[in-house]
Amino acid sequence: MNLSVRLLASVLVSWLPVAAIADNLAVSYSEDGRYYTEDDIPTFNVAEDGTVDWMTFSGFRRYHAECHVCHGPDGEGSTYAPALKESALDMDYYDFVDIVTNGRQVVNAAENSVMPGFGDNPNVMCFLDDIYVYLKAHGSGAIPRGRPPKKEAKSDVIREDEDACMG
Ligand code: HEC
Repeated sequence: MNLSVRLLASVLVSWLPVAAIADNLAVSYSEDGRYYTEDDIPTFNVAEDGTVDWMTFSGFRRYHAECHVCHGPDGEGSTYAPALKESALDMDYYDFVDIVTNGRQVVNAAENSVMPGFGDNPNVMCFLDDIYVYLKAHGSGAIPRGRPPKKEAKSDVIREDEDACMG
């Protein structure tokens, strides 16, 4: 391989995962206050003045009600549970949903690590996308640690969906 081909190859190898992550973040369209990628995966939206979409704001609150005790404040991770701000970027959305719904246990000689399933907890299941987009927003560096100071209003559709889900 000549030098330029090798260079191109190394650029491609380091660039591809970054491109895949970028595709999983970039807003393609929005619907009733929710934002989606071109693959219809929920994502966040941060305006130039720092205003976050409702889901991201809501996800911040839900995360800190249900997940931070194990995964650390702001999804930064702890000694016994992974940094979810990174998981949300690295993992497939459907894998993320599956683990939160059904839980996961890793038991071997070195560790006994349990992620509880939240499938019957409406305070998590009704806000799963909120938590997911919040973690992606923080993990990608679009928002800093802490409570987002400015947010979009909650749309009527989001309100209705939450009410229906919470029963
Ligand atoms: C009781 C402690 C505890 C709570 C509460 C908890 N988790 Fe976990 N979670 C864990 C542990 C421990 C692991 C690692 C388990 C493993 O290795 O399979 C984990 C793993 C995960 C993973 C896989 C991450 C990866 O990179 O592989 C996801 C996603 C996750 N948790 C999401 C959540 C969300 C979202 C919440 C809040 C709704 C939550 N967890 C609440 C302990 C917890």
